[in-house]
Amino acid sequence: MCKTIIIYGSTTGNCESIASAIEKNLKSKGLQTTLKNVANTSVNELFDYDLILLGSSTWGDGGLQDDFIEFDKSLSSTNLSNKKVAIFGVGNTGWPNFCGSVDTLETSIQTTGAILVGKSLRVDVDLDRNELEEWVEQIIS
Ligand SMILES: Cc1cc2nc3c(=O)[nH]c(=O)nc-3n(C[C@H](O)[C@H](O)[C@H](O)COP(=O)(O)O)c2cc1C
Repeated sequence: MCKTIIIYGSTTGNCESIASAIEKNLKSKGLQTTLKNVANTSVNELFDYDLILLGSSTWGDGGLQDDFIEFDKSLSSTNLSNKKVAIFGVGNTGWPNFCGSVDTLETSIQTTGAILVGKSLRVDVDLDRNELEEWVEQIIS
């Protein structure tokens, strides 16, 4: 059974809601899934999982959500070879660097040796349920 963890960073709750919707979807498909706030998560916990979903909202000028900053720094010295990672995030196309946090996480994951699965999900304000379903299908197939 593929063990999955969803780790999110969220300031006003939007990314948290998306992470919860992803959790619900994965569980409905029978996947064993853990949901955690990045503020209470260490990169060492990633070793216990096969599929890792990282989700951050974007703040400042295309930056990571605050709680993700330290976690992202630790990723660069972590070997995640053989792990599958998928990335999601929420932003607003009204800002110049739409979902810049997703781009940052993609770059960081490339240094870990993990396999990036699917096309990263970039949510513009509101989550489209069909888009979520398609994304989940893509990352678990
Ligand atoms: C001060 C501020 C800066 C923001 N900067 C960006 C940005 O650079 N790019 C982007 O896509 N969204 C940006 N946003 C939009 C947030 O990412 C968006 O409101 C998101 O839903 C917040 O999610 P959270 O509640 O999970 O933290 C910004 C919002 C605020 C208030």
